[in-house]
Amino acid sequence: AHAHIRRPWIRLLEHEMQLDQTTLRNLEILKPVSEQRQSPTLLTTLDQTKTPMGTRLLRQWIVRPLTQLTAIQLRQEAVKELVSNLGPRMRIREHLKAVQDLERLNSRIVLEVANPRDLINLQRSLENLLFLQEHLPSFQSAMLQTIHAAWDPLLDVSSWIADTIIPNPPLSAKEGGIIREGVNAELDELRILAKEGTRLLAEMETRERNRTGIDSLKVKFNQVFGYYIEVTKANLSRVPSDFHRKQTLVNAERFTTGELQDLEGRLSSADQKMKSLEGQLFGEIRLRIASATTRIQGMAQQLATLDVLTGLAEAATINRYHQPTVHEGGTIQITEGRHPVIEHIQHSEGFIPNDTVLDLDTNRLLLITGPNMAGKSTYLRQVALIVLMAQMGSFVPADSARIGIVDRIFTRVGAADDLSAGQSTFMVEMSETARILDTAA
Ligand SMILES: Nc1ncnc2c1ncn2[C@@H]1O[C@H](COP(=O)(O)OP(=O)(O)OP(=O)(O)O)[C@@H](O)[C@H]1O
Ligand SMILES: [Mg+2]
Repeated sequence: AHAHIRRPWIRLLEHEMQLDQTTLRNLEILKPVSEQRQSPTLLTTLDQTKTPMGTRLLRQWIVRPLTQLTAIQLRQEAVKELVSNLGPRMRIREHLKAVQDLERLNSRIVLEVANPRDLINLQRSLENLLFLQEHLPSFQSAMLQTIHAAWDPLLDVSSWIADTIIPNPPLSAKEGGIIREGVNAELDELRILAKEGTRLLAEMETRERNRTGIDSLKVKFNQVFGYYIEVTKANLSRVPSDFHRKQTLVNAERFTTGELQDLEGRLSSADQKMKSLEGQLFGEIRLRIASATTRIQGMAQQLATLDVLTGLAEAATINRYHQPTVHEGGTIQITEGRHPVIEHIQHSEGFIPNDTVLDLDTNRLLLITGPNMAGKSTYLRQVALIVLMAQMGSFVPADSARIGIVDRIFTRVGAADDLSAGQSTFMVEMSETARILDTAA
């Protein structure tokens, strides 16, 4: 029952840039430094994904940038191709949006907790796979071609559901009314029987009215007493001897007859049988889908990758990023670089881009000085973020960049500044001091 849990795989640390907790926090990669505000982070700035699988994968790409040149270039090539193909990119994103969390649905199916609506949601999600597949052959980049080669539109799974479950099923599989007509002969027969029973009841009502001459006689049903014939007090004298009293009300009496009891028995057993049969058929289809677990999970992964790549292309377009040149040398050269997060917050004059040159020669170390609120901390982090983005395969906020691959980023930041709130390091210290002086005076 744990087929949805994937095998462990080996992660080589030397294939991933090492980012410690302090650095993740200082660079505001996943979470803002200030916990009070919902300020933007690198993740929110880059996240243009459309599926839950994509969102999860993007988080992984952000906290585990790559260190292998070829692996980085593979991602870059795919992003580049998606940047320059606006039409296909838009249509891909459109279809991705309609795909629900396949990993979650799959687990629910394997764990046998998926309800009829989960199955319909899975089927509607899978319908998009075929449309998405149409856009893949035109791409040249190796990563997109790999996705294309691995693409499995899961048409069989999709039609198992479509052929079995009605389009808008109830939430519960216990109440019946979920299985299509023509799926199971016994179920169809039971349904005819139920319909027939309703007709027989109506017929019986007319017959008893004629026989007794009581026009107000009615055959009714309630949950407690089941089926009964109701006769008003005024007409009691005309009740025939084969009516058996069931219940007495203020204005009426309720009866049953041998024929009614017989019919009732048949109807309720048909109803029970229908419900249990539908439950059983539903369990069977769910089990059948569970047999496709590996394929569904495989597609969840393909979709996640496609989603992240398309999302990075979208982010690059929206934010005017450019493709950096990543290399194995020791030079970092950035022209007109920007801080990816702060550039959106700086409204008044707009963000001022800055250049950077670092190498293994005379530019090994940069000492940055300047007035408070001049932008030192911003510049520092901007360089780190551009390198990080480049190594995760993303385009970067710079006119051009040559990035020598790094294996670690360290940061140490003194007093907590809050760049997105416009609070520099010194500003935070001054505000804190000012508050003490104001209050103590
Ligand atoms: N290149 C830039 N263009 C426009 N605005 C910027 C730029 N860099 C920083 N800023 C804005 O200026 C403010 C101060 O920047 P920052 O905190 O980096 O200054 P700082 O030099 O570190 O100051 P302190 O000495 O107090 O630490 C930030 O809130 C940011 O919004
Ligand atoms: Mg500072």
